[in-house]
Amino acid sequence: MLKFINRESEIWQLKNLLGAPPTSVLFVYGPKSSGKSTLMMKIASMYPGEAIYYDFRARSPTELYNVLTVPRPGPATRLKEYLRRRFGRVNIREGIEVSPSKLKAMSLGKLDPFAPLIRALRGYKRPVLVLDEIQNLKHSGLDRNELSQLFNFLVTITKRLHIAHVIVVTSDCLFVDEIVKAAELEETAQYLFVGDLPKKSVLDWMAEEGMDPAKAKKVYDTLGGRPYDLWVVVQHFRAAGDIDILDSMIRRKASRVRFLLKSAGAAEARLVKKLARGSVSLADVNTRVLGWAVENEVAFFDPVNGEVYAISRAMQNALKKI
Ligand SMILES: Nc1ncnc2c1ncn2[C@@H]1O[C@H](COP(=O)(O)OP(=O)(O)O)[C@@H](O)[C@H]1O
Ligand SMILES: [Mg+2]
Repeated sequence: MLKFINRESEIWQLKNLLGAPPTSVLFVYGPKSSGKSTLMMKIASMYPGEAIYYDFRARSPTELYNVLTVPRPGPATRLKEYLRRRFGRVNIREGIEVSPSKLKAMSLGKLDPFAPLIRALRGYKRPVLVLDEIQNLKHSGLDRNELSQLFNFLVTITKRLHIAHVIVVTSDCLFVDEIVKAAELEETAQYLFVGDLPKKSVLDWMAEEGMDPAKAKKVYDTLGGRPYDLWVVVQHFRAAGDIDILDSMIRRKASRVRFLLKSAGAAEARLVKKLARGSVSLADVNTRVLGWAVENEVAFFDPVNGEVYAISRAMQNALKKI
């Protein structure tokens, strides 16, 4: 029932990257609900090699050695999984398989937390590791130093050994910025922004749903191309035949920000005013205030061009009402 809209240029870029030998870590970034995970699942399902997909929202490793690993199952399960991957549609792994005895040794510090993974990866066919919602590792008990070790390993398997592609996915770009600096990744990272769908794709989609051009335009002007917001309106339109829900979507966002501002300071209120008008350069925003806006999902920070925006067109429209 759910349609997959556009993303041709992103898919083209990812295919190019995955078609060449691995040489760098790719950061896929973009605001929440912009369609990053959906795009990654699409890529993983089309990928001719082996995709290993980590969702760190569902998985919260507390030790370095089990961030990327899963215990290797017994022979019967292994055969079953092999057949499923070989003949079924599912070809996505949940981790790099390591024998339970090795995992034990790793947990006791008798074995390096990463070295055994290199051997396992060499046994996989053109592996690609997708680390989704990576910012959750921050809250899972891993410290800065451990995160740097993890990223150094990711650099090792891409840039140095060329044995696996690595795609790191996140909407928390302040975290990416920190990690890139801490792990000295500046020269090895590549970036792909996944933002809103283009206007034409949105208008075509709304037309397909049976919306007249005036309504479709209003939807685009209010929400831009944010897939999640568009689905909310489409569901409403399918049920009620109108797009009256737009107003309440904006009002709800505005009242959430008004509430947040009650316990915030004047600097936060000033940033909100600026974001209502458009993008703000990083140089003009205090770090603490930026942190407030990003954490509360009011603003999105683009680390590549150093700009700060309202998190969505809908949010920008909401901020205009404050
Ligand atoms: N290309 C797309 N076409 C249609 N719907 C999409 C597309 N990308 C995302 N969506 C929908 O938007 C919602 C948010 O997407 P998701 O991939 O979870 O965003 P993110 O991972 O960036 O937070 C999902 O419900 C998904 O079905
Ligand atoms: Mg996601």
